[in-house]
Amino acid sequence: MLRLSIVIPTFNESQNVQKLLRSLEATLGSTGWEVLFVDDDSPDGTAILVRDIAQRDPRVRCLHRIGRRGLSSACIEGMLATAAPIIAVMDGDLQHDETALPKMLAEIEKGADMVIGSRYAPGGSTGDWDKSRQAISQLGTVTGRAILRQPVSDPMSGFFMLRRKLLDATVRDLSGVGFKILLDILLTARHMSICITEVPYHFRGRFAGESKLDEMVVWEYGILLADKLIGRFVPVRFLTFSIIGGVGVLVHMAVLTAVLKGLGFGFATAQSVAAGAAMILNFTLNNILTYRDRRLKRWAWLKGLFSFMVACSIGAVANVGISTYLFENRTQWMLAALAGVLVGAFWNYAATQFYTWGNAK
Ligand code: GDD
Ligand code: MN
Repeated sequence: MLRLSIVIPTFNESQNVQKLLRSLEATLGSTGWEVLFVDDDSPDGTAILVRDIAQRDPRVRCLHRIGRRGLSSACIEGMLATAAPIIAVMDGDLQHDETALPKMLAEIEKGADMVIGSRYAPGGSTGDWDKSRQAISQLGTVTGRAILRQPVSDPMSGFFMLRRKLLDATVRDLSGVGFKILLDILLTARHMSICITEVPYHFRGRFAGESKLDEMVVWEYGILLADKLIGRFVPVRFLTFSIIGGVGVLVHMAVLTAVLKGLGFGFATAQSVAAGAAMILNFTLNNILTYRDRRLKRWAWLKGLFSFMVACSIGAVANVGISTYLFENRTQWMLAALAGVLVGAFWNYAATQFYTWGNAK
């Protein structure tokens, strides 16, 4: 009988797979378990290796995602792809101590809905991290604890176990952005009465390969919190898209002034150069910030830039058309302009979401 599924998100972890499987085998033995790797098309062939092993061992499975990135969304899709009544999430680089799994399972059997592998509970530790990593982790931990209702020592943990029931109750409201899948679940379950317990563990050094966390984790963490707070009212992607649009307007004005006044070109030329510069900047920022999970690279980047510029030009025509129509029909000039800007912004967002970054949520 399948009791426990261990979902492991991977990106370039091929050198860790075999050792990880041996450790799981050694700790879990004859418990009914499976391990489900969710790989985002790693260039190092992690998925190929996993499938190769899976041919000989049906407890090993692979969910291969293409054109997608993201630790949280990988975990969500992995959890949904298993039939097990109990699910664990664990990193694929041996930093999470697999010997904590039987203790976590015992907690679930005693009645817990969620068990968190904690580095900050008595008996746990973070291992050797550099100062900035420690600071980032601490910042996240403190803010995470502050907004949660339950006392949780390590809301940033990527190592936890839960009952399928809890997944089913929360999965439709998860944000799925960034790295913090545990916090996402805990915040979604904030108003439910659930039993959470912790098992301390020592966070080990990475076995092989390198970390995929970069400076962007802070940004993604902010997006997760924003989505949890206001996502019901405004899509957070639309919000970042609009903020970037605002930055684009400032850049437009700066370039316009420089080309018109500084270089002495005519207005039409200066306005075109400014519009072009603003669009390139907006596209670049949106590609990095708004659509990080489906970031375009190389040829796709160039094609994306083209479709973005076409879409935004249509947006600009709509903007001018609508505001002029309203203005000529006795709408106050500011309101007319604002209406044009709003319609243009909605159009740009909708059109580029579809054509440039392909139907993202
Ligand atoms: N499928 C998929 N897609 N997997 C990913 C992606 C992705 O975009 N990015 C990272 N992973 C996988 C890695 O291959 C690894 O197995 C696991 O997710 C954790 O990634 P690391 O790059 O090793 O992260 P870390 O060790 O720096 O951070 C870990 O510890 C933090 C605790 O402070 C993660 O568990 C974080 O979630 C956790 O908060
Ligand atoms: Mn790691």
